[in-house]
Amino acid sequence: MTDPRAFVRELAAENASFWVGRDVRLAADAPPEQRLAQIRYRMRQGVYNELRSVELIAAWIPHVPEREIRELLPGQLDDEHRHYHALRRRLIDLGEAPDAYRPLAEWEALFDWLVACRTRPTLEKLAMFQFAGETQSCDGFETLIALARDVDPETSELYAKQILPDEYRHAAIGRRALLLLADTPERKQRAREACREMNERVFTAYRVHRARADRGE
Ligand SMILES: [Fe+2]
Ligand SMILES: [Fe+2]
Repeated sequence: MTDPRAFVRELAAENASFWVGRDVRLAADAPPEQRLAQIRYRMRQGVYNELRSVELIAAWIPHVPEREIRELLPGQLDDEHRHYHALRRRLIDLGEAPDAYRPLAEWEALFDWLVACRTRPTLEKLAMFQFAGETQSCDGFETLIALARDVDPETSELYAKQILPDEYRHAAIGRRALLLLADTPERKQRAREACREMNERVFTAYRVHRARADRGE
């Protein structure tokens, strides 16, 4: 049987290769003005996503019977709540009205699906959200931080100091769940399929998100 660490590394590499060229939310080569508009668009969406992450973790906690994993989740819930407030506050400081935005259908569908997954096995849930999802979020935040540095340094700093370190911790919770629970070939396969399902769904949301941003909706 493969060493669990080797499996987790292998799955992380598979996820990373899925994402090559697929995080289409920001264009590194866009002129500064357009780049700033894309960053703002992502921040508005981010407020919603952070709030839904709070709801999601709260919904999942009672359905995670494995004590050593469950005890890590309230900390993540606190972090996501803090991220929601930090992003919302930043948008208000920029003269925006984050509470007035309507949720966009693609993100609403993604989080509705994730919340409904609460009764799936812990291995699958955490492979989806913490392992696949949060790892891609970390990459996405690294990109955002780099692309915001010249056009909006304060926002870049906020993501770098107040959000990114927590998101790395959340991805680590996903790795921990896999190390603990992906202990048979069948379970490894289920974890792999759960990652694939999550990545496909997130990619769909990214594409719709970018098309809307380009239309200026
Ligand atoms: Fe977050
Ligand atoms: Fe997170």
